[in-house]
Amino acid sequence: MRRVFSGVQPTGDLHLGNYLGAIRNFVDLQEEYECLYCVVDLHAITVWQDPIKLAANTREVAASFLASGIDPKNSIMFNQSQVPAHAELSWILSCVSRIGWLNRMTQFKDKAGKNRENASVGLYVYPNLMAADILAYKASHVPVGEDQKQHLELTRDIATKFNNDFSVEFFPVVEPLILGEATRVMSLRDGKAKMSKSDPSDNSRINLTDGTDEIVQKIRKARTDPDVLPGPEVLIEGDLKTEDQNKRPEAFNLLSIYSALSRQSLEETLKQFQGMQFSSFKDELADLSIAKLAPIGEEMQRLMADPGYVDNILQEGAIRANNIAQPILKEVHQIIGFLGK
Ligand code: TYM
Repeated sequence: MRRVFSGVQPTGDLHLGNYLGAIRNFVDLQEEYECLYCVVDLHAITVWQDPIKLAANTREVAASFLASGIDPKNSIMFNQSQVPAHAELSWILSCVSRIGWLNRMTQFKDKAGKNRENASVGLYVYPNLMAADILAYKASHVPVGEDQKQHLELTRDIATKFNNDFSVEFFPVVEPLILGEATRVMSLRDGKAKMSKSDPSDNSRINLTDGTDEIVQKIRKARTDPDVLPGPEVLIEGDLKTEDQNKRPEAFNLLSIYSALSRQSLEETLKQFQGMQFSSFKDELADLSIAKLAPIGEEMQRLMADPGYVDNILQEGAIRANNIAQPILKEVHQIIGFLGK
């Protein structure tokens, strides 16, 4: 079976990285797969969230899905807390997953920082919940940005161990779908740091709700270097050479963003702008960003002003998601030996 599952956390400030690494690909996959797209509110509370903001941010993510082109009649979109199978399977998978595996998760180390003793237990077992999200639907494919790769490898390990422990061929081994020319969009202020919701500088990212002026300003202020733009000689078999990437991370970040937004290869972008000054390239990038992103931002604002409409879509999605997950969970119970109907 070909079923897609993916999730986005409702933690505020959705940005260009979320769009190019994930949401735009969600839209593209709708034709070919049965798709479930989830606003992962259970994941969000692994760090404290203001309840009013959590509700607003949940609607914001749902609005971004709709505004980007997800068709809720076709794809299933819902918020995670409304389908009990996620939390329930997460417990079961926490008994399959190993402490040693979780100890290797780099995102936990990054997020917990130096104060690890004081991080929530939920933050530590976060990847088990992510495995449960995917496996509750026996999803075969998971579109994500590059930063989620390690979590998906863990999902594969958990699925394989479950199958081995109970001598079954039950859970699929999921395939990550890391698609497009911008699978890891970097900060506009520092080409070595990921574009992120948690960066204190708003100038480091383009938010999906930014207006035309903000987009132009942020791109103008984006960090660059004094050289002119490079040409295709920096590629080897279509991929950027690591030494060039390391020398000019900001330049290649902007070029990758341009490629992804225009849906052309990095090679074509390099040929197009070879030898150009950054100031002229930035004008082109700002125009393209506005053309692609401003309509999404406007539609998001319109949808967020109509919470009843968005809430209904999420509710209907939860019913459909539940109908898929419940029978799968029932089979899990039987495999494990839980009594019950
Ligand atoms: P989250 O909410 O941090 O991000 C949502 C999606 O956006 C991608 N992304 C990026 N892609 C490219 N460049 C960036 N700078 C960038 N920043 C974020 C992420 O890779 C992700 O695809 N743990 C997940 C949510 C999740 C999930 C799941 C995903 C929960 N359960 C099951 C897939 C399947 C997360 O925190 O994503």
